[in-house]
Amino acid sequence: MTKVALVTGASGGIGREIALTLAKSGFDIGIHYRSGEEQAKSLYNEIGSLGRRAALLKGDLSGSDDCKNVVESCVFELGGLYALINNAGITDDALLMRMEDEQFEKVMKANLNSCFYCTREALSHLVKARQGRIINISSVVGITGNIGQANYAASKAAIIGFGKSVAKEAARRGICVNTVAPGYIQTPMTDVLPEDIKKNMLDRIPLKRFGTPSDVAGVVAFLCSDAAS
Ligand SMILES: NC(=O)c1ccc[n+]([C@@H]2O[C@H](COP(=O)([O-])OP(=O)(O)OC[C@H]3O[C@@H](n4cnc5c(N)ncnc54)[C@H](O)[C@@H]3O)[C@@H](O)[C@H]2O)c1
Repeated sequence: MTKVALVTGASGGIGREIALTLAKSGFDIGIHYRSGEEQAKSLYNEIGSLGRRAALLKGDLSGSDDCKNVVESCVFELGGLYALINNAGITDDALLMRMEDEQFEKVMKANLNSCFYCTREALSHLVKARQGRIINISSVVGITGNIGQANYAASKAAIIGFGKSVAKEAARRGICVNTVAPGYIQTPMTDVLPEDIKKNMLDRIPLKRFGTPSDVAGVVAFLCSDAAS
C-alpha cells in the first residue's frame, strides 16, 4: 500500500519542494495550507501528474482544533498516515526591547504549538500502525540565535528539545522522529530580508551560496525512506 506523508505549510517555499520530492519518492501527499490556496491547488495538480494522490487540507495550525482536523482529514481522505512533516512556520522579527507580547506569542504558537498539536494527533495513528516518521523543521537560528529573532530562535530551539523527547517516547513503537535545522534557504520567508542582512549572512556561509528548498527536501525524503530506518 502507498505510504502517505502530510506536509504542513506545503504552499510555502520549502514545504512545496518537500511535498514534490516525497511524491517523486512514491508517497501520496496531504497538502496542508493556510492561505496559499492557489499555490496549494497547483501543487495538487503537479502531484497528480506524477501519478500520486493528494488531498488539500486547510487550517490555521496555531490552534489544536485545526491541527486535529487536518491530521484526521488526511487519514480519512488518503487512507492512512506514515510521515508527518512539521514544516509550517513564520517569522515576526523585532529587537527584544521592542517586541510586543503578541509578536512573541504568535510566533511560538505558529512554530512550536503547531508542532505539538500535529505530532500528538499524528502519533495516535502511527502508534496503531507501529511504524512511521515525524520530521520537524527547526532552523540553524534555534542553535546559534540571531539578532531580532528571539521569538523565532526560542521556538526553533524548543522544537529541537521537543523532537528529541518525542523520539525517545516513540522509538519503542517503531516510529522515528528527526529534526532538520536548515541554514538560510531562499524562499518567500527570506526574500523579504533587507539586502545588507542577506549579504552579511552570505559572508558567513562557507559554501558562499544560500541553500535551496531542494537541499532541505532531499534530507527530509531520506529521513522518510527505508534507508533511514
Ligand atoms: N527559509 C529559510 O531560510 C529557513 C531556514 C530554516 C528553517 N526554515 C523553516 O522552514 C519552514 C518553511 O519555511 P519557508 O521558508 O518555506 O517559508 P514560507 O513562508 O514560504 O512557508 C511557510 C508556510 O507555513 C505556513 N504557515 C505559517 N504559519 C501558519 C499557521 N499558523 N498555520 C498554518 N500554516 C502556517 C504558511 O502559510 C506557509 O505556507 C519554516 O518552519 C521555517 O521556519 C526556513
